[in-house]
Amino acid sequence: MDLLYRPRRLRGSAVLRKMVRETRMDPSSLMYPMFVMEGENKKEEIPSMPGQYRYSIDRMPEILNELADAGVSSVMLFGIPDKKDEKGSEAYNPDGIVQRALRAAKKEVPDLFYVTDVCMCEYTSHGHCGLLKGKDVDNDPTVELLAQTALSHVQAGADMVAPSDMMDGRVLGIRTKLDENGFSEIPVMSYAVKYASAFYGPFREAADSAPSFGDRKTYQMDFHNSREGIKEALADVEEGADIIMVKPAMSFLDMVTKVHDVVDVPVAAYSVSGEYAMVKAAASKGWIDEDRIVGEMATSTFRAGAQIYITYYAERIARLMRDGVIG
Ligand code: PBG
Repeated sequence: MDLLYRPRRLRGSAVLRKMVRETRMDPSSLMYPMFVMEGENKKEEIPSMPGQYRYSIDRMPEILNELADAGVSSVMLFGIPDKKDEKGSEAYNPDGIVQRALRAAKKEVPDLFYVTDVCMCEYTSHGHCGLLKGKDVDNDPTVELLAQTALSHVQAGADMVAPSDMMDGRVLGIRTKLDENGFSEIPVMSYAVKYASAFYGPFREAADSAPSFGDRKTYQMDFHNSREGIKEALADVEEGADIIMVKPAMSFLDMVTKVHDVVDVPVAAYSVSGEYAMVKAAASKGWIDEDRIVGEMATSTFRAGAQIYITYYAERIARLMRDGVIG
């Protein structure tokens, strides 16, 4: 055949394939979400997320050191409080679970970068992400509490805060509060493009944060929409977001690319609990090759345009990168 372009030429050897790779990754782009709970000497496996645990504060260093050894640069903390109430008071308690965990972790493993999830669903008795007015979340008073929560995290040592509640105007509320209190250097990573998704199921078991009635569709986005996500992303950048997140990742990679193309800040993508659970379940049956699947999921997220990949597989992916399987 008289072909000038033969794509197979550049696939002929491992050296050549690696030379022409378009997506390069390293473990510093990985962020590990983890759950911290009250009590002592606790490490409880989450039933729907085999291999993932809730740690009491004193047991956190073992996982933090493992992550640091693997080259993972950051963690995102989720708190599981003992007490819940209507107003989610423990979320903004200066001595709440996340605040104490931060102080301990920063002392024990100071080299990691500590991000906190800022939300109220783990802390409210009704499981919604803010204050209720009737059957719905009351936006503006909730923003004030979220800003207080973010400030308390930063005062306890958080290096970055990540609001995940999806209230209107919360990035502005948090940015203003941090600036007023002398924390203008602390970045805000906004869960800007966060869909109302069934993929969060295992997380809600892990964090005991399922809504006791209704769902989150009046605040999280409808997954039929993409232009709405662009609007959310642009609005959050205007309000001062430093990083824009898309969540979930795997079924929303179109949004990672679109957001990356229109915003001039870094993009993060969160591979959520349901994605992890699906891979684990299939792998435990021997139906898929877990390492190769996880490697492809990570690579495709970076290929789509993400700079940060938030994943329960962070440590494993770091090892895949180090061993040259991907990256
Ligand atoms: C808090 C929050 C959730 C997740 C991250 N932050 C749950 C939710 O919105 O219901 C989900 C993470 C995951 O599924 O891994 N609002």
